[in-house]
Formats: sequence, C-alpha cells, structure tokens
Amino acid sequence: MKNIVLVGFMGTGKTRVGKLLATQLKRQRLCLDDMIEWKVGKPITKIFQEDGEQYFRKIESEVVKAASHDRNVVIDAGGGVVIDMNNIKRLKEHGIVICLVARPEVIYDRTKGSMHRPLLNTHDPVASISALLNKRKAYYGRVDYTIDTSDISPEEIVAEILEMMNPKNKHG
Ligand code: S3P
Repeated sequence: MKNIVLVGFMGTGKTRVGKLLATQLKRQRLCLDDMIEWKVGKPITKIFQEDGEQYFRKIESEVVKAASHDRNVVIDAGGGVVIDMNNIKRLKEHGIVICLVARPEVIYDRTKGSMHRPLLNTHDPVASISALLNKRKAYYGRVDYTIDTSDISPEEIVAEILEMMNPKNKHG
C-alpha cells in the first residue's frame, strides 16, 4: 500500500487529518516536524532562531529522505516541504501526495495565537500569509490531489481522502 502524504500551507489541517487518517486506517503516522525536532533536539521555533531557516530546510530534507523509505504510513509534512523539488519527488516515489489548501482568512483564523510557527510570528501575520502563499503557489501545484479544507471538517476531509484511495475509483 502506498504512503499517504499530506502537504499544504500552515493551518490547512494536515496534523488533525493525519492523526484521524492514521487511526482510521490503522497505519503508523510520521509527522516530519516532530522528526525534525527529535533529530535536532529542540523546538522548531528555536531551530529557526538559533540555526536559521536554511539549516531547518537541510534537516527537513534529511527527514523526508528517511520517511520516504517507509511503506504503508501516513506522513504529514511541514508547510514548506514543497519548496524543494527533491522532497516532493521522494515523497511521491512510494506515496500519494495530497495538498490541503484553505482561504487565507481561514488560515489566519486557524493559526493566530500559535507560537510555534516562526514564519507567522511577525508584526503582520496576514501579510506574511499572503506573501508566502503567493510565493509558494506553484509549488503546491506539484501534487497528486488537492482538497480545499476551508469549509469542511477534518472528518469530512478524511472521508474524501478514503474515497479517493478506494480502488473502485481507480485512484488507489
Ligand atoms: C513551515 C511550516 C511548519 C514548520 C515550520 C515551517 C513552513 O509546519 O515546518 O515552521 O515553511 O510553512 P506546519 O505547516 O505543520 O505548521
């Protein structure tokens, strides 16, 4: 069975959906952000502060490489994983890559007040969201499927993914 890989901007629901999906399918879940934190031994915010984004991306790619060797797992990736084409290539080798998207105002609503997202810890998070979304638009298009999560619940998103994976629908 192929891995199910969730990518998409911060606040689009990857973590919630990843957890639900893994439970329903009785599969192991690999959270790449958690793997990065374990590998480096500190929280993502600290990695950004003390080592910089470039270092974070380097570790992110190493973790993608390791996770891509697994089979039959649910992988949820950080929002910036798509920037490096090699990451997406690797994740696609044994996985179906699904991008969760949402409207900018929904993303803002879901991420406001969260302290663990250094890229949105700015004086104007709405502007940061718009700028990053614009910059990454093309990258988020490099996936197998896209689901807009703005107006549906995590449970509905999971149902949609399971429907897509159903061999009867020729996508599995
Ligand atoms: C990032 C998203 C974060 C985390 C890091 C960088 C990004 O993950 O990997 O802060 O570049 O979009 P989530 O999308 O799970 O918040």
